[in-house]
Amino acid sequence: MHIQFFSTQPYDKLSFEKHNEQFRYQLSFLEIPLNKKTVNIIADDCAAVCVFVNDKVCAETIAYLAVKGIKLIALRCAGFNNVDIHAAKAAGIHVCRVPAYSPEAVAEHAVAMLLTLNRKTHKAYNRVREQNFALNGLLGFDLHGKTVGVIGTGNIGAAFSKIMLGFGCKVLAFDLIANKDLEALGVTYLPLLEVLQQAQVISLHCPLNEQTHHLINADTLAIMQQGATLINTSRGGLIDTQAVIQALKKGKLAYLGIDVYEQEEKLFFKDLSGDIIADDVIQRLMSFPNVLVTAHQAFFTQEALTQIALTTLGSVQSVLEKHNLTPRAALLV
Ligand code: NAI
Repeated sequence: MHIQFFSTQPYDKLSFEKHNEQFRYQLSFLEIPLNKKTVNIIADDCAAVCVFVNDKVCAETIAYLAVKGIKLIALRCAGFNNVDIHAAKAAGIHVCRVPAYSPEAVAEHAVAMLLTLNRKTHKAYNRVREQNFALNGLLGFDLHGKTVGVIGTGNIGAAFSKIMLGFGCKVLAFDLIANKDLEALGVTYLPLLEVLQQAQVISLHCPLNEQTHHLINADTLAIMQQGATLINTSRGGLIDTQAVIQALKKGKLAYLGIDVYEQEEKLFFKDLSGDIIADDVIQRLMSFPNVLVTAHQAFFTQEALTQIALTTLGSVQSVLEKHNLTPRAALLV
């Protein structure tokens, strides 16, 4: 069985080759992304393609995948906003993802961003290296006792909420479905606008879809507390970046931590240190001292990479070899 990988990084290759020893599939790795311009590169004997967050698996791409005889699109990530699920279903191509490889990895990264921002450890690191041991400008704030708003309490949002409860925060949440276990632990579910109004720290953990696109915009920013902190480790499109820049300029947002960005596919996962970056929006964001940008690394732990490889290859085996379509959690179509 031949699986063609797109958007491959060296660590993907290492991890999948290691864990493929028990599956013995033929894996071939391409660095280029999958989209309608690159889809024709797929080898004729491929049964599945394995894609990541910035591959664009639109209806046109899927039509060509069907012509090539592809039976499965395997996302090696949790989010699936970049795949046209309806087009895949119509073409008779299965789609699977890795729903919960390590929710803690992403939740802990969101907390790491929050702690960096509220205690300014990124500044302290550089300052001490310059032998500047003064504290002026490093004044932080306690998380203990603060109200934290969590938008989306699925696997990652739940893990994040539990950590915040452990810090002694009051946790308010918004989701389409309340999680009874979280409620029992002390999380209070409220309508979205009330969560945004009451929280000093807001962390986004819902998927990107038509309902959540630009969930954080000029109107929702206006109702947030003056000096709020916003963390986004979910998907860039949840935030209207221009509106957030205005909110940062006015001090409405005191801190912003983003691991994802609307236009990230041209930047993230690449070393552009020798290039001129044409994207003025990310340049403006990176110029704020109270903004922390990481390049979609929240998932990036050893434990997560192992689970991603094992679950993805396991799904290929279930769907294409055993014709077992029961692993509903992983199978989207
Ligand atoms: P999940 O599917 O377990 O949870 C998503 C939650 O969002 C569910 O409880 C769902 O009911 C809720 N939701 C759906 N629509 C909503 C809406 N309109 N408003 C509020 N809540 C809504 O997903 P999981 O594993 O927790 O992942 C969340 C997101 O995190 C993914 O969609 C993905 O975009 C992102 N992610 C980012 C990673 C990174 O490395 N930065 C890695 C993995 C996931």
